[in-house]
Amino acid sequence: MMNDLFDKIYKDKGPLGKWASVAEGYFVFPKLEGPISNRMRFNGREVITWSVNDYLGLANHPEVRKVDSEAAAEYGSAYPMGARMMSGHTDLHEQLERELAEFVQKEAAYLLNFGYQGCMSTVDALVSKDDVIVYDVDAHACIIDGVRLHQGKRFTYVHNDLASIEKNLQRATKLAEETGGGILVISEGVFGMRGEQGKLKEIVALKEKYKFRLFVDDAHGFGTLGKTGAGAGEEQGIQDGIDVYFATFAKSLASTGAFIAADKEIMDYLKYNLRSQMFAKSLQMQLVIGALKRLDMLRTMPELKEKLWENVNALQSGLKNRGFDIGTTQSCVTPVYLKGSIPEAMALVKDLRENHGIFCSIVVYPVIPKGLILLRLIPTATHTIEDIEITLDAFDAIRERLDSGVYKRLSAGVAEAFA
Ligand SMILES: Cc1ncc(COP(=O)(O)O)c(C=O)c1O
Repeated sequence: MMNDLFDKIYKDKGPLGKWASVAEGYFVFPKLEGPISNRMRFNGREVITWSVNDYLGLANHPEVRKVDSEAAAEYGSAYPMGARMMSGHTDLHEQLERELAEFVQKEAAYLLNFGYQGCMSTVDALVSKDDVIVYDVDAHACIIDGVRLHQGKRFTYVHNDLASIEKNLQRATKLAEETGGGILVISEGVFGMRGEQGKLKEIVALKEKYKFRLFVDDAHGFGTLGKTGAGAGEEQGIQDGIDVYFATFAKSLASTGAFIAADKEIMDYLKYNLRSQMFAKSLQMQLVIGALKRLDMLRTMPELKEKLWENVNALQSGLKNRGFDIGTTQSCVTPVYLKGSIPEAMALVKDLRENHGIFCSIVVYPVIPKGLILLRLIPTATHTIEDIEITLDAFDAIRERLDSGVYKRLSAGVAEAFA
């Protein structure tokens, strides 16, 4: 018997959607208001903001705001119209690409309208059905969706596990020898949930034994890691070993857009084969001019990254000293792992927001294993030592209440309703 397509939707709202009635507007789809900074407004009160990826504090920097508004006044939000290939190409798009390529130490770069689609499209364009993809099981959704487009074989390896990477490279090599294809390995530079860097140095070293190309999504590493801010590859001393480098403007550059960078011949191929760019409107001029300004600030204002890391170190060492489990982060991303159910996590986050004025993101199953609560803190250059002290004290208080069962009692009704 056939069903109405919508029947399954009426019955099952999905692992996150099922919480909508108790979570929407507060835990999910919250509204943070006011200028982007260390303090914003949530539900009518000021909160210390720990959930915005404005690492270098550029989002509301007066020089950035000035350039953004002047560019918007001059070009509006339409120019240039059409796809790059057809009618949406300009000198400034090319200039930004040259500057980005130089910044990440690659021969050439190409702009992407959105990191998500661009990353998917890059994976799609790099492989054909005879090729094999080997990628980290914890890869960002945009990589997974890119892999879904692949018509050939793909293998996941255990997150950052070298033995598993090697085992899968062996399987992939065997297959590629049969099909006559090649191998694409994909890792993130920094894994955005737990903050670990991808094992890029070790993966690149495997090139001595196996034949493959490496694609790295460095959304969180760009601007925050490496001597010049060129990211996780620079930090690990293997930028040359990354064959295709990706970063978004949505984090350190505090904007919208993204780019990929590689050898010129590879970029020349990609710009003719990235479907998400060939069949979509060009990045608008205000974003291009805004990115040029931000990149210039990254290059010329190292104090922004220094301030960021001062805050990262103060927050992470403060949490560790107070006995919190922050996992194995090797980046600015600061996870705090606690044990509890989803309803307990909700009660805890409400307490943090309402009684302590702390706004951080909460991550629960299915993104992380059942029974774990991950509170994710993103330090930025705009935070102060006072913000960090208040936050550390608040975390002490919520841990005590979690351990003594206060949140379990507070959330009993919710737990029953969703059991
Ligand atoms: C690791 C990673 N890759 C890709 C993206 C997508 O980038 P964008 O927001 O530019 O679409 C994100 C999120 O911004 C991300 O965290």
